[in-house]
Amino acid sequence: MGDQGRRFFSIYIFGKKYQVPEGLTIQKAMEFAGYQFIRSCGCRGGICGACFTEYRTPGSYQLKGALACQALAEPEMRITQSPFVPMHRADYHLEALRAQPGILGKIYPEIYRCLQCNTCTRICPMEIDVMDYIAHAIRGDIEKVAHLSFQCILCGACAARCPAEISQPYVALLARRIYGRHILSLPAGLEQRISDIKSGRYHRVLERLTQLQIEELMRVYIQREQEPQEADRWVPKNPNFPEDLF
Ligand code: SF4
Ligand code: SF4
Ligand code: FES
Repeated sequence: MGDQGRRFFSIYIFGKKYQVPEGLTIQKAMEFAGYQFIRSCGCRGGICGACFTEYRTPGSYQLKGALACQALAEPEMRITQSPFVPMHRADYHLEALRAQPGILGKIYPEIYRCLQCNTCTRICPMEIDVMDYIAHAIRGDIEKVAHLSFQCILCGACAARCPAEISQPYVALLARRIYGRHILSLPAGLEQRISDIKSGRYHRVLERLTQLQIEELMRVYIQREQEPQEADRWVPKNPNFPEDLF
């Protein structure tokens, strides 16, 4: 579709004024204005966290934040982007860690500096209660931090704003790692599958798959059964797929 008949309005990108058509995301409006993304763009689908953008709109004192690939450009918006937020990522060996109380605070002691200002929660584009998961991290509740932070896309907006200089996403990532490695039990069947992989059960089928033409490979791919997003117990109807094809 061309731009004929579309209303245009002004936006300001890094202080420079551009005319863009209505109905574009901030990301597309920037591209329309001539920007080519090398950084600050990844999935274009609200998942990777690369495109966090700060802006102001007329009549409001607030400095707001949004994912550029999701939020629409608005008239007179003043936009800026930071391609990368340097955050504190501690070194640790997950295998050697245990789910002991206080482990999050031992690795990231800065969490005890939290002022409970709620800035992190207010800026989070995923609407995560960041302050709450940091409060649970201080209390040592790894499971709660893991669940509360699950939607985090590591955009770094909370860390960039935190007056206590906490890198919240990496605290949360540590909690999810400990939770996944040392607290959650393995799903039924996973141990068996790992041992099948180690024993070389799939070598032959993988070799056959890599020899297929792209069209044949697509046919096999389409035939597969997909695990439902939400299911307590799920077993495929044909557990030998695609081995039984060859
Ligand atoms: S922005 Fe920092 S100091 Fe403020 S509530 Fe969040 S973690 Fe605590
Ligand atoms: S918790 Fe922080 S890093 Fe994660 S999505 Fe929210 S603002 Fe971004
Ligand atoms: S480009 Fe990945 S979240 Fe926007």
